[in-house]
Amino acid sequence: MQAKSNQWNNNLAFLLAATGSAVGLGNIWGFPYKAGENGGGLFVLLYMFFVVVLGLPVFMAEVFIGKKGKANPVSAVENLAKSSNSSRSWNLVGYSGILASLLIAGYYAVIAGLVINYGFISLAGFGELDPAVVYATEVSSFWEMTFWFSLFLVGSGIVVGFGIDKGIESAMRILLPMLFVLVLLLVGYGAIKGDMPSALNYLFSWKADQFNAGTIQAAVGQAFFSLSIGMGTLMAFGSYMPKNQTVSKASVIVVTADTGVALFAGLAIFPLVFFFALDPTAGTELVFKTMTTAFAEMGTLGQFIGPLFYFLLAVAAFSSMISILEPSVVFVSEKFSVSRFKAAFIIVVVCFFLSLVSVAGFNVWKDVTIGALDNPFEAMKYLADDFLLLLVGTGISVFVGWRLENTINSDVMGLENKFLLNLWVFVLKWVSPISLLTIWTLGNLQILFGISFF
Ligand code: PFF
Repeated sequence: MQAKSNQWNNNLAFLLAATGSAVGLGNIWGFPYKAGENGGGLFVLLYMFFVVVLGLPVFMAEVFIGKKGKANPVSAVENLAKSSNSSRSWNLVGYSGILASLLIAGYYAVIAGLVINYGFISLAGFGELDPAVVYATEVSSFWEMTFWFSLFLVGSGIVVGFGIDKGIESAMRILLPMLFVLVLLLVGYGAIKGDMPSALNYLFSWKADQFNAGTIQAAVGQAFFSLSIGMGTLMAFGSYMPKNQTVSKASVIVVTADTGVALFAGLAIFPLVFFFALDPTAGTELVFKTMTTAFAEMGTLGQFIGPLFYFLLAVAAFSSMISILEPSVVFVSEKFSVSRFKAAFIIVVVCFFLSLVSVAGFNVWKDVTIGALDNPFEAMKYLADDFLLLLVGTGISVFVGWRLENTINSDVMGLENKFLLNLWVFVLKWVSPISLLTIWTLGNLQILFGISFF
C-alpha cells in the first residue's frame, strides 16, 4: 500500500489502512473459534490482557521502526541498526517477519476463498441444507477450494502490484463502518434470538482449570495476529506515515477498534452457538456452521444478510491480505530492483504453492499429521501465528528497547508524558521479551512435545 510519494496523504489514511489491515478474518473467524477451542473465559481475558500489556507496546514499536527507518521492513531495520551502531544481523527481525507474512498469506487466502464461496452459496439461500453437510462438501474439493483462493490471491496481488494509495482509503471509509454496523446488528440478533447469558458466561468467566501454557500462547498469538504485529506490515505502513502524525495516538485508535470488533464478533456468534446447541470447540469451521445455521433460520432476511455478511467479511479479509503482501512485495521490489508488479507476481506464485499445501490440509492431506499438529493447514497456522510471531515480537521489542532507546523522541511517539514514555521503553526492554520468550518456550513444549509444567 504505497502512497505515490511514499507517504500517506493525510492522518486518516494511516488509521484507515492500519484498521483495514488489523480487522479481518482474525477477528471474525479466528477469535471466536480460538476462544471456543480454548474453552472461552480464560482465553478471552488473557487475550484482552495481552492486547494491552504486550500488543499495544509492540504495535507502537513496530510502527516506530517503520516511521524512523522509512523503508521496507528489512531495510528499515538495517537503516536503524546502522545509525545506532548495531549489528546488521538485526535485519533477521525483518526477514523473519517476511517469512511469517508469506506463511500467513498462504493459509489466509484459503479461508478467504471459502468465505467468498459461502457468499455465493448464501446468495442462493441455504434452505433446508444441513450446515455440517455444506461445510464438509465445500472443503472436500481440492480444486474448488483452489479456484476460490486463487481468485482472492490473484486479486490481492494485482492491487498490491499497482500500489494503492487513494483506493484503499476510500474503500475503507465506507466498508469498515458497514462491517462494524453489521457485526453490531448480529450482536443484537444474537441477544434477541440466541442465548446471550450463556455466551457472556462462557466468554468472560474466569476458568482457572484452563490455565496452561498452550492457552496462554494461543492468547498472545491471537492478540499479535489480530493486531497485524510481527510481519512487517506495521513497519511498511509506519514508513508511509505523515511526519506530523504521532505513533502512540494512532496505535491506540487502531488497537481499540480491532479488539472491539473481535469481542463483538464473539458476542454475535456465541449466543447462536449455545441457542442452536452447536459445539463451541468445533475449531476452524465454527463460524461457517454457526452463521449458516443462523442465516437459514432467518428465512428471507437471511438471504439478504447472509451474502452481505460473507461479502463484507471477504472485503475485510482483502484489505488485510493486501497488507500482508505489501511488506514482501516492497522488499522484493527494492532489493532486486524490479517493478512492484513483477515483485507482486513472484510473491503471488510463492503464496500460491503455500496455499495449495494449506488446501490439501482440508482434504487430500487431511490426515497427514506433522509432529503433534493435525494437518498441513494447522501446521502452517501454528508455525506462523504461535511460533514465528512471538519471536519477531521479541526481536522488535529488544531492538527498539535496547538499541534505539536514544533515538526515541516524543515528536515521533507523541508520548509527552515522561512516565508513559519510560513505561513503554521498560515494557519493551524487560516485560515483553521475558514474558514472550517464556510463553513461547512453555507453549511449544506443551503443544509440540506434550510436556507441561502446570
Ligand atoms: N490482522 C489480520 C486479521 O486479524 O485478520 C491479519 C493480518 C494482517 C495479519 C496483516 C498480519 C498482517 F501483517
